[in-house]
Amino acid sequence: MKREHWGSKLGLILAMAGNAIGLGNFWRFPYQAAKNGGGAFMIPYFTALIFMGIPLLIIEWAQGRYGGRYGFGTIGPMVYLQAEHGSSKKFARFLGAFAGALALSIVVLLNSYYNHVIGWTLGYAWLTATGNYMDPSVDTAGYFVSYIQNPYTVFIFWLITLGLLFYITRGGIQKGLERLAKIAMPMIYIFAIILLIRTLTLGSPVKPEWTPIKGLDFLWQPRWNELSWSATLAAAGQIFFTLSLGMGIIQNYASYLNEKDDITTSAVATASLNEFAEVILAGTIVIPIAFTFLGTDGLKSGVGLSFIALPNVFRTMTGGSIFGTFWFLLLFFAGITSSIAMFNYLVAFLEEQFNVNRKTGSLLIFILYVLGGLPVALEPILTKTAELFYLTELDNWVGSYLLVVLGLIEILAAVWLFGNKGLEEINKGSYWKVPKWFYNVVMRFITPVFIIVLLVFSTVTYAQDGYLKLIPDFAKNYPNLVPWIFAARVVLILVFVISFIVVFKSLKGI
Ligand code: PHE
Ligand code: NA
Repeated sequence: MKREHWGSKLGLILAMAGNAIGLGNFWRFPYQAAKNGGGAFMIPYFTALIFMGIPLLIIEWAQGRYGGRYGFGTIGPMVYLQAEHGSSKKFARFLGAFAGALALSIVVLLNSYYNHVIGWTLGYAWLTATGNYMDPSVDTAGYFVSYIQNPYTVFIFWLITLGLLFYITRGGIQKGLERLAKIAMPMIYIFAIILLIRTLTLGSPVKPEWTPIKGLDFLWQPRWNELSWSATLAAAGQIFFTLSLGMGIIQNYASYLNEKDDITTSAVATASLNEFAEVILAGTIVIPIAFTFLGTDGLKSGVGLSFIALPNVFRTMTGGSIFGTFWFLLLFFAGITSSIAMFNYLVAFLEEQFNVNRKTGSLLIFILYVLGGLPVALEPILTKTAELFYLTELDNWVGSYLLVVLGLIEILAAVWLFGNKGLEEINKGSYWKVPKWFYNVVMRFITPVFIIVLLVFSTVTYAQDGYLKLIPDFAKNYPNLVPWIFAARVVLILVFVISFIVVFKSLKGI
């Protein structure tokens, strides 16, 4: 079967930037930074970006282009093909199946809840535009709870999201993914710049000492006493999440490159676009806006920032319903251009494993995500709570932990086992060449050491927090929710085992 390629360099960069720029930039980053030392957070953050994030990103691009040349768009065969050069076929096959199964578990499960959050953003864009919660007597926290407990709103906006993803993926690389990126990416930047200007011109409507500039101070001024191990881990974890590393989806997009297409310059360009959106745009919008209206208390609300604190701000602010709608649409577009990469990964998997055509494949994945997302939607509806244990449990594993494991395996295959060929592959067709010393020192040692440290310390933290216990302590107060945690674990193990068997079998024929 002939593989599709990206239609233009601009389309490729926008699609890759769309892949990276997601909800991670606009709601995850600001509260991580605010919570973990402000300006002091930026030091581990940028260190991790340079020594871990960008090197691994380049390695993933090269791995994906290499796999694509042999007709593959998924991790299993990619890792196999590279590992085979420096190890036995048997080991390569095991490693490939392990990596492939991790990637499948991540894209199936991460997207099963990420698509819901995207659905909420669309729902909130609608509710903001129609003035639904604008009455100041509405409590925005309670409003959010009743939103996720309302089957109508939850299902309607979630199914619209999934339907869109289906329709776009069905169109293919150039007519689907690339076209989406060319529309959605400019929108994201336009909405963000409008919001940024509005934020900086807010004045101090609530208290004289609450100004947008003071909010910026809060983000940028180093509070060294808050710079702890856990802040450093949070920074490195954020780099993984925001650059879409260790998920297989960068490789999947890179598999549609031509053999001689540039890698290093393009990878650095997309990382820069992502960092601009994250540090400059998201940082300058979310923190100052919440600070101006709510003071530092507004920044402590973590995940609730987007759906609870900001709605509260929008209804007080002049022109709030317009700016609020822009904000939620911005989140929606950022989310959908990332989620489409996961959707496409699975369609590519069906294409290459089972010879399914793209149209049928897209329909099957649509059905898979409807089924996979059901528990996420049903938990608050059936239990009448807002704890979202099923979602949180999945996120702890696939959204923060397994990606780091996969990142390490990728380096093992693409650098250690593939050896000097790895460097050749990166530099082939690249405008900027990665020097030998950088490959041997940074990519071979510093990057994996970073990842290993991240992995070891996350494991320790998990164990201490009780995540590795059968029932975590925090869950004991909610006996009726414990089954949802178990359900998440059972689903995770099932998806992993089935994926492993399928990928392991398929690697025999290569
Ligand atoms: N890089 C994405 C972000 O910042 C992470 C992601 C990619 C999440 C694809 C889901 C799907 O949000
Ligand atoms: Na991102």
